[in-house]
Amino acid sequence: MSKFFINGDRVDFQGAPDTPLLWVLRDSYDLTGTKFGCGMALCGACTVHVNGEATRSCVTPVSTLEGKRVTTIEGLPATAVVKAVNAAWVDKDVVQCGYCQPGQVMAATALLSKNPKPSDADIDAAMSGNICRCATYQRVKEAIKSASATLGPARPAAAPKKA
Ligand code: FES
Ligand code: FES
Repeated sequence: MSKFFINGDRVDFQGAPDTPLLWVLRDSYDLTGTKFGCGMALCGACTVHVNGEATRSCVTPVSTLEGKRVTTIEGLPATAVVKAVNAAWVDKDVVQCGYCQPGQVMAATALLSKNPKPSDADIDAAMSGNICRCATYQRVKEAIKSASATLGPARPAAAPKKA
């Protein structure tokens, strides 16, 4: 038995403790926005947040979740980061087939929630484990940068030019 939270709701999972979280989400709670890709922590399609950290649910046994907060793509709260990412995803027309996109969005929102102004290297490091068969990588990166530009404190104004 494992007691934890999914999208704010407390759950008591009665199945085997080594059951992967991905199976629990999709089969027990009908939360099918989180996708199965490789099942081996290699593709990122199954990415959710566990206590705010981007986490591969396909290799996360429920026994490790006691008391923790799991958030799926269905339960993302309307924070400033989530709104910025959603708007940027539409603006940059990121999505092709869509299969990898829940995982991409979960990884991007986890990154920007911790680091609203990531460098190119930060973005590459955070997103490198999210594979996209449609190769939307460039647009994902542009969308993260676009979302970032709307977050956090404004840059200091440039010094006035000397006459
Ligand atoms: S399905 Fe979990 S990383 Fe591929
Ligand atoms: S949008 Fe098709 S796999 Fe990424």
